[in-house]
Amino acid sequence: MPAEQFLIKGLSGKKELHGTIRVNGAKNAALKAIAATLLFKDPVTIKNLPDIEDVRRMIDLMREMGVTVTKKEKHTYIFDTNTLRTSHLPPKISKRLRASIVLTGPLLARTGQVHFPHPGGCVIGKRPIDLFIEGFQKMGAHARVVNETYVVRAKKGKLSGAEIFLRSASVTATETFIMAAVLAKGKTIIKNAALEPEIESLIRFLISCGARIKGVGTTTLEITGGSLLSAKKRSYLTPPDRIETGSFLIIGALAARELEITHCNPTHVEALLEVLRYAGVRVVTGTTTIRIKQNGKKNSDFTGVDIKTHEYPGFPTDLQAPVAVFLTQVTGESLVFETIFEGRLSYAEELIRMGANIKIMDQHRIMVKGSKLLSGRELESPDLRAGLAFIIAAIVAKGQSLIHNVYNIDRGYENIEERLRQIGLSIERIQGDQP
Ligand code: EPU
Repeated sequence: MPAEQFLIKGLSGKKELHGTIRVNGAKNAALKAIAATLLFKDPVTIKNLPDIEDVRRMIDLMREMGVTVTKKEKHTYIFDTNTLRTSHLPPKISKRLRASIVLTGPLLARTGQVHFPHPGGCVIGKRPIDLFIEGFQKMGAHARVVNETYVVRAKKGKLSGAEIFLRSASVTATETFIMAAVLAKGKTIIKNAALEPEIESLIRFLISCGARIKGVGTTTLEITGGSLLSAKKRSYLTPPDRIETGSFLIIGALAARELEITHCNPTHVEALLEVLRYAGVRVVTGTTTIRIKQNGKKNSDFTGVDIKTHEYPGFPTDLQAPVAVFLTQVTGESLVFETIFEGRLSYAEELIRMGANIKIMDQHRIMVKGSKLLSGRELESPDLRAGLAFIIAAIVAKGQSLIHNVYNIDRGYENIEERLRQIGLSIERIQGDQP
């Protein structure tokens, strides 16, 4: 099958885009909400599900395990887990989706056992699962590896509450243990829990359906286990994608005369807003909108700023590559320090080939010096977020760029080319062979 590519006509650093761009539901909230339906005795409706590859894969996974998934509208699905017939995660899909790991918590808690392969996803570092295995063991489960499959069984078929201190404030581990604890016997305390807004959204929904969870919005969560939850007529509304919001903000700052980002939550992107304001970008926030106004400023009028990725509310690792593109266009030297993953700077070499002045210091740090006009070229998107960074680089570059591996971008962004076309970008999805 021929691979798809994006052909983008660069704006040579000019600010020509304008209009309104809408943010969709958050991938990393939607995937966990789907997993959480395993905690329910009745069907759960999820609204504002983004129509992206990763969500489709997760739905396929649920269906393969016997869950009845009904599409109600384009972005609304109903999940009935009463028809669940296995505690084995289908290996083929699970290996291609990191979020499959969050299914292990509710599956183990509901059925007493879970069988799963090492989860896949973006190749951005080691991505171990030691925290998951250790946590399950603390909750009274026995874990072993048989033929490259993890087999985890709860003692007497039921998990018990435990105290779990997360050595790293892992997003998926926090979500997994919250869900496992909701059906476990007794009390679970999760310390150094991650604070990402997608987690809070999940917790609030679970509480509204009967879960007993204290400490929402803090790093210590106390969960008292009980029986299966009931959604009754409540539905889960997927919150706006803050990474999409942030990426649009960067596009607006670099390439728009004026841009309004709608259906977003500005409080979820404060770390980026702070960076942009410091650099000299004018942004005005509303309750669910953000406007970028240029005041005739060129990108070289903006100044560099050091970035250090951090767990929420710090600067998100998922916006690290997009912001690095921003920094190639502004004046001055900026250090980008990726503290979460060890393989998430590989895109920098491609930016250098486009003409960016970037020094790769080690696997966690790059030094970016701007402002440099980039030249369009052929690019191979290494992962989802770097893929979007390449779109941004192609937008500001001089000449045409061809981005291969669009599949990686489709995993996280719904119909991105259409939304960018609506604000004036020349972008085509074309069929072609890999380079
Ligand atoms: N970690 C361990 N052991 C574990 C699990 C994690 O050492 O068992 C370490 C990781 O190696 C990393 C750190 O903990 O250094 C934090 O990783 P985390 O577990 O929080 O990442 P994740 O849960 O696998 C989620 C998002 C990522 C996002 C990170 C950080 C999902 C499905 N994925 O991953 O999103 O980058 O949190 O915010 O929620 C993306 O959407 O493109 C993406 C990669």
